[in-house]
Amino acid sequence: MDIAKETLTEQVLDAFSETPSPRLREIMTSLVTHLHSFAREVKLTEQEWAVAVQFLKQTGDITTDKRQEFILLSDVLGLSMTVVEINAPKDSRATESTVFGPFFVEGSPEVLNGGTLPGEAPGIPLLISGTVTSVDGSIVPGALIEIWEADQQGRYDVEYLDQGSAGRGHLYSDQTGNYSVWCVKPSYYSIPTDGPVGRLLSSCNRSPMRPAHVHFKVSAPGYKTLVTHIFEKGDPYIDSDAVFGVKDSLVRAFKYHADPAPENSPLAANEWFETEFSPVLQKAES
Ligand code: BEZ
Ligand code: FE
Repeated sequence: MDIAKETLTEQVLDAFSETPSPRLREIMTSLVTHLHSFAREVKLTEQEWAVAVQFLKQTGDITTDKRQEFILLSDVLGLSMTVVEINAPKDSRATESTVFGPFFVEGSPEVLNGGTLPGEAPGIPLLISGTVTSVDGSIVPGALIEIWEADQQGRYDVEYLDQGSAGRGHLYSDQTGNYSVWCVKPSYYSIPTDGPVGRLLSSCNRSPMRPAHVHFKVSAPGYKTLVTHIFEKGDPYIDSDAVFGVKDSLVRAFKYHADPAPENSPLAANEWFETEFSPVLQKAES
């Protein structure tokens, strides 16, 4: 049978019509429909199609256990944030989520409440404290709070040559829902640019920079896990995040203190910062 131009999309959709899983059938039907109309809309040439195939091959080639170029591609296309938005808590009182990013490491070291993220991440001490609550205002004791951040040079520990752990750890909110932790003031940084995604950004005259932030993953039984960041108010890249992750509700002032940091801070420093972040969790089933 001839695959006439007008009926090609219909024939491809028909080929997927017997897909047993209704969800997979729905996804493939929509994907094919949008892909075909995208190619027709831009009148994709064969050469452009080949460049795209080569780009995806390079994206796969550079991807390893520690480097996920496909996630980075999804991030710079705004797809990751679109998925975050679609799955966002319905309750507007809950803390907003943002991108997960590629630098989370499972099983970070435990920190005592009020303690310091272990390792030697260089930077000026930053004390973060707050209370974990539910959207109804009740406190959430024993919540697992996982934190990771770049140092003052904008580098994560996984990017250090010696691969030691620094700038990451986990702790638990206490019986009153409170927590506090010493970390270092993070810096803005560039997402990795030495792969195909970096070359794409450069071809499109786009900045690879992310504003300074600290990542949080907060989980507690009976609650939806929250993955988010806090961003530093006044950061030069706050309005041009390469991965579109900034939300006004997540921006915090880092209050400066021009005096020696209290004894349990990470570095014997003559200056320090502090900020507040109180995660509000949504119940799992709502
Ligand atoms: C991050 O914040 O760690 C990150 C997020 C998306 C892409 C690259 C880095
Ligand atoms: Fe980050």
